[in-house]
Amino acid sequence: MERDIVNVGVVGCGNISGIYFKNLTTVFNDIVNVYACADLIKEKEEKALCEYKIPRAMTFEQMLLCDDIQLILNITQPFNHYEISKRALLAGKHVYVEKPLSLNFEQGLELINIAKANKLLLGGAPDTFMGAGIQTSRKLIDDGYIGDIVGATAFMMSKGHESWHPDPEFYYKPGGGPMFDMGPYYITALINLMGGVKSVAGMNTTAFKERIITSQPKYMQKIEVETPTHVSAMLQFQSGATASIITTFDCKKSDLPLIEIYGTKGSIKVPDPNCFSGPVYLATSDGSGYKEVPLTHIYPDNSRGLGLADLAKCLKTGNTPKAGCHQTGHVLEIMCAVFSSFETGRYYKMKTKYKRTEPMLRDLVKGQV
Ligand SMILES: NC(=O)c1ccc[n+]([C@@H]2O[C@H](COP(=O)([O-])OP(=O)(O)OC[C@H]3O[C@@H](n4cnc5c(N)ncnc54)[C@H](O)[C@@H]3O)[C@@H](O)[C@H]2O)c1
Repeated sequence: MERDIVNVGVVGCGNISGIYFKNLTTVFNDIVNVYACADLIKEKEEKALCEYKIPRAMTFEQMLLCDDIQLILNITQPFNHYEISKRALLAGKHVYVEKPLSLNFEQGLELINIAKANKLLLGGAPDTFMGAGIQTSRKLIDDGYIGDIVGATAFMMSKGHESWHPDPEFYYKPGGGPMFDMGPYYITALINLMGGVKSVAGMNTTAFKERIITSQPKYMQKIEVETPTHVSAMLQFQSGATASIITTFDCKKSDLPLIEIYGTKGSIKVPDPNCFSGPVYLATSDGSGYKEVPLTHIYPDNSRGLGLADLAKCLKTGNTPKAGCHQTGHVLEIMCAVFSSFETGRYYKMKTKYKRTEPMLRDLVKGQV
């Protein structure tokens, strides 16, 4: 039994690591074993060792040399994703990386090609699309409740992260910003529901050149904003359907829905794609408005680690990971396309093709993928 469990080295013990450590050591511990963790800041490592009973701390470099570790979970800041993932792949490790896959499409493609050439699995966040909310929405679409999809809207309206994140600077640097930070959740949900994207038009602007941190411990420190903070785009899907998306850190208040999908027979109000849960609402052509529908799938709780567990299971089954690089690469290209379309003043024609991943099974119990 022990040998079937995939040993994982976790790089980055920052803000988001807690939920990964928790789920990997309690929910998905029949599939993966957190073998070691690493952080450049020793106190963060200590906290992980103590709080989640991780057996050992190692440096990233030690992990690369450790034959017992098969899979690297890269949950460092976005600007580290490419370098750490590349070094891990070149050392023969499978990799699961937080979003975004990389800061630009060329780097993302390079990682995908290294993984393919070395027969390694490369996957990454988000895995929220595998949760109960998006999977229920997907089932409604696949079962024909809203007919043929005509279009969608997706709105991630927020005022930014400097009021709560202890170290929010990276959100305002290349690889951060609302599109690279939150876009992956929204775009991943859209392509899982609607299929691949074939062309993209984008525009962006920035409201504030400087941000003041109001969270602790960096209270009142300034952040120089180096990436657009209000990003709008139009997506044309391979099916011919279209979607409008806005991601912003410049909005003080909005009542817009998060994601709505419009079909020839009805509409779906999709729950927060940054979460695993519902509620999911369906409106049909009977005119009675949106009604909440029961969730059809498991994993309504914060199940971060689900995508990594699925990837680890694929090492045994030979299946394609649901949160694999065919998906994270397509999402990265779409996000980059939004910016390049604005720079060139032209529609961007997508190079990668995307086929929707298989839906989650409905008879799973917690811990299974
Ligand atoms: N914070 C959230 O709520 C949240 C939610 C979902 C996803 N994410 C994503 O997760 C990633 C990490 O976010 P975070 O908020 O945890 O960031 P963070 O800054 O809190 O933590 C990142 C950690 O990585 C460590 N690190 C960097 N390079 C390293 C190396 N070579 N070896 C060892 N450790 C190294 C840093 O020291 C830091 O502690 C980002 O990609 C972010 O987009 C964050």
